[in-house]
Amino acid sequence: MSKPRVFVTRRIPDAGLNMILENTCAEVWDGDLPPPHEVLKEKVRDCEGLLSLLTDTIDAEIMDAAPNLRVISNYAVGYNNIDVAAATARGIKVGNTPGVLTEATADLAFTLLCAAARRIVEGADYARKGKWKTWEPMGHLGQDIWGATLGIIGMGRIGYAMAYRGHKGFDMRILYTDVRPNEKAEQDLGARKVDFDTLLRESDFVSIHTDLNPTTQGLIGPEEFAKMKSNAVLINTARGPIVQTQALYEALRDGKIWAAALDVTDPEPLPPDHPLYSLPNCTIIPHIASATYTSRNKMAVMAAENLLAGLRGEPLPNQVNP
Ligand code: DGY
Repeated sequence: MSKPRVFVTRRIPDAGLNMILENTCAEVWDGDLPPPHEVLKEKVRDCEGLLSLLTDTIDAEIMDAAPNLRVISNYAVGYNNIDVAAATARGIKVGNTPGVLTEATADLAFTLLCAAARRIVEGADYARKGKWKTWEPMGHLGQDIWGATLGIIGMGRIGYAMAYRGHKGFDMRILYTDVRPNEKAEQDLGARKVDFDTLLRESDFVSIHTDLNPTTQGLIGPEEFAKMKSNAVLINTARGPIVQTQALYEALRDGKIWAAALDVTDPEPLPPDHPLYSLPNCTIIPHIASATYTSRNKMAVMAAENLLAGLRGEPLPNQVNP
C-alpha cells in the first residue's frame, strides 16, 4: 500500500521528523523562512497530511487547495494560525502540542520578569561597552521581586507554572483573571481571582498567559496602561497581538509603566527599525519560550503522533477541534 503524502513546512527535531519520514511519503520544506502562502497552496495540493508551524497561515484557501487533506498537525500549543472552524467544516482534524512546553515557557517568562525588574540587559550592555567606571550608589536601580504582586492573565497550565515560580520562589502575592476559577492555584498558591481592572491596578508585574482569540486580541491598550502602576512591568510570552504595540510603545516612552519584556510581538518578527527597540526599558527576544532541547523534541514527537493518528483515521492524541 502506498504511503500517505504529507508536507512538513520546516525541519523539526529528528525525534519527530524520523517518525514522519518512516511512515509517510513526506516533503520537508528546507528553507530557513516559512514557505510563502502561494507555495504552500501548491505543496499541499496532493497531501493528506500537513505539519505546520505557528508562522504558517493555514486558512480556508490552503484547505480548499488540498481536497485530500485529513489532518493538520501544528508544531505548537497555540493554533491561532489555523482557521479551526474552516478545518472542522471540511472534516479536517487539527492537532497541537500542549503540556510539553509548559515548564520551559514559564521558566522563560520568569527569566524575563527578573531581567526586566533588575535591568539585566541594560546592565550587561553598560559593562560590555566599557561604561562601568565605579560602583554607583544611585545607578541601575530596579524593582523588588520578592513579595511583589504578580498578576496572571490566563491561569491555565502556563499561567499556573508562572504563578508557582513567583509564589513558591519569591513569596509573591498572586492575582489572576480567567474565564473560570483555578481552584488548584487558589489552594496551592493562595491565588485570588479578580476582575481585570483590579489586576491592572494592583499588580507590580503583569504576565500574559492567555491564548489569542477574538476576545483577547488588543486586550491591553491605552486604557489598560493608564490603569497600571507606574512601577509595573509587563511580560508577554503568549501572543503579540494581545497587546496593542503602539500603545505599549507610548506607555513605556511616557513612563505610564516601568518596563516590558516580550518574547512575542505584533508584528512578528518586529522590524529592526521599530521604535520599541529604541527604548531601554523594553526587552525583546525572538519567540523562544519553548526553545529548550527537551521541549522541542517532545513537541516534535507529539506533532508526529498527531499527524500519524490523523492519517490512520483515528482521533488525534491532542486534537483541538471536535
Ligand atoms: C507555542 O507552542 O504556541 C509557542 O508559542 C511556541 O512554542
